[in-house]
Amino acid sequence: MSAAEDFSAEAFGDYLESQQNKSFLRFITCGSVDDGKSTLIGRLLFETKLIFEDQLAAIARDSKKHGTTGDDIDLALLVDGLEAEREQGITIDVAYRFFTTEKRKFIVADTPGHEQYTRNMATGASTADLAVLLIDARNGIQVQTKRHAFLVSLLGIRHVVLAVNKIDLVGFDQARFDAIKADFETFAAAFEFETLQAIPISARYGDNVVAASQNTPWYDGPTLLAHLEGIEVESDLAARPLRFPVQWVNRPNLDFRGFSGTVASGSVRPGDAVVVAGSGREAVVSRVCTFDGDMAEAGPSEAVTILLDREIDVSRGDVLVPPDHRPDVTDQLAAHVVWMAEDAMLSGRPYLLKIGTRTVTATITDIKHRIDVNTFEHLAAKSLGLNEVAFCNISLSEDVAFDPYEANRETGAFILIDRLTNATVGAGMVWFALRRATNIHWQALDINKQTRAAIKGQKPVVLWFTGLSGSGKSTIANLVEKRLSAQGRHTYLLDGDNVRHGLNRDLGFTDADRVENIRRVSETAKLFVDAGMIVLVSFISPFRSERRMARDLVESDEFFEVFVDTPIEVCRERDPKGLYQKADRGELKNFTGVDSPYEPPEAADLRIDTTDGPAEDHAETVVAMLKARGVID
Ligand code: ADX
Repeated sequence: MSAAEDFSAEAFGDYLESQQNKSFLRFITCGSVDDGKSTLIGRLLFETKLIFEDQLAAIARDSKKHGTTGDDIDLALLVDGLEAEREQGITIDVAYRFFTTEKRKFIVADTPGHEQYTRNMATGASTADLAVLLIDARNGIQVQTKRHAFLVSLLGIRHVVLAVNKIDLVGFDQARFDAIKADFETFAAAFEFETLQAIPISARYGDNVVAASQNTPWYDGPTLLAHLEGIEVESDLAARPLRFPVQWVNRPNLDFRGFSGTVASGSVRPGDAVVVAGSGREAVVSRVCTFDGDMAEAGPSEAVTILLDREIDVSRGDVLVPPDHRPDVTDQLAAHVVWMAEDAMLSGRPYLLKIGTRTVTATITDIKHRIDVNTFEHLAAKSLGLNEVAFCNISLSEDVAFDPYEANRETGAFILIDRLTNATVGAGMVWFALRRATNIHWQALDINKQTRAAIKGQKPVVLWFTGLSGSGKSTIANLVEKRLSAQGRHTYLLDGDNVRHGLNRDLGFTDADRVENIRRVSETAKLFVDAGMIVLVSFISPFRSERRMARDLVESDEFFEVFVDTPIEVCRERDPKGLYQKADRGELKNFTGVDSPYEPPEAADLRIDTTDGPAEDHAETVVAMLKARGVID
């Protein structure tokens, strides 16, 4: 690079300045190893002189050992850095690489082409301005090319390059190239990409990658690098309205109260009027501070602390926005979700949703349709597996501010987090707010839980019995209810078998149906508590997540989880309804403990070992716990 060759201070200063003023292009490459993706990136890095001598020597050595190019240097080895990858011959994770030319700086996200790695692509593509779809000229457009194009469009990338690789292997045949190009343009028309450039290349020999090839005189378009250098992408977040998600409230002393965070889009200057997106409270920016002093203006990706001219209520997770360009604020939205976890996404199950700096509880209320990423078909679904994509309605525990993903990828994207493991399990793109539920408000009632409970002279609670089928839940719950009732308590017993005859008669035993089963009975239990009752719930309730949801619906001192811990061998022996036998014979599918999981509680309020002593004793233990915990006297 010129800086190294000419090291005068002045020249170096000029060089630095030119570097800073160069625009950035973020792009992703999609395609399989066989298509030559790693070789192409290796070629770009090689030709832009980013490979150092010692690396080259190592690659030359490795090329002999692992490479597929005979005695030539295998540029793919530069990129497929991981030993495991080399051995398997596949690329397995997203890798970001930086390179620069005289004209532009680039960040390339190298994403795997393997069928099951949709999620990696979602990760790599979320910040990209352009996608290079790589195909093998011999094979033409494949199913996976269509999948890539679909995901690229879903993730909001508006510029696409179709790199028709290995053009040397089809004898630099123009007709072949034209046919592939036409084929792609036809099916990609629906995606309405802003630009679509097809380029015949040979990553291995360099044709049309950096230098125009002598072998394709019929091609008069740009080389790949020239196209990447020249394309105008309006990823110009600076031109969009201000979105400043507050990361934390910075209050080192009484005289200073600032809101720290990173500008997601737009810009902010002292004197600008802003409002808090949720509350609509208004103020004027008085200062924009950084560690290095005040700024006259801050733009996208700059981390700053904003001070306001008056005290208004702002907390972590709020978004500061201009009064005349406010985002939507809602607790119901429609979004595309890409599922990234081995455990299926179940509609009705609560997850955490993080959008900007805000985290709330979210439930997929309805999977409108799953989208087959290969055929783009819309399919009905109740759950979503690894790498599957669906359009869903989502309900949130609180209002959040967002923009449609189409308008702002920074404030329109979210992730879903598992509440128990804290792992990221999904990524989403918001389409629009659902207005449906916004006309429903809480009706203030004169008679409340306290009044109802006082009339009954008791503290309302939920006693939640969980355990395998045949564990003895219902037997014990029944005895507990008899005892409480004998003491004049007002009780109600919700039993799985009974509720499934009425309220939940439409539900079966798939994971998704069990989630819905427990969601409904949890809401019912909550209503009973509100009615001032002591409610006993006896359901297998096999999943921790839903038992947690049931607990969260009432106050923390109103819920008691009783784990009826009977080993499956004992349940099997008892088999009161002959269901284990049926399940073992394969006549009953999804039977808990046989071919459907049971997740034992980790911290139940009471654990009962039913192999020890009669049911009456266990009922007594439950009643004793209620006394000890101050529910009854
Ligand atoms: S839960 O898993 O969704 O909580 P629930 O407690 O409502 O289950 O219903 C369990 C009862 O349904 C069992 O006691 C048993 O009588 C009956 N049943 C029928 N099929 C199944 C099955 N596949 N798995 C578990 N229980 C089943």
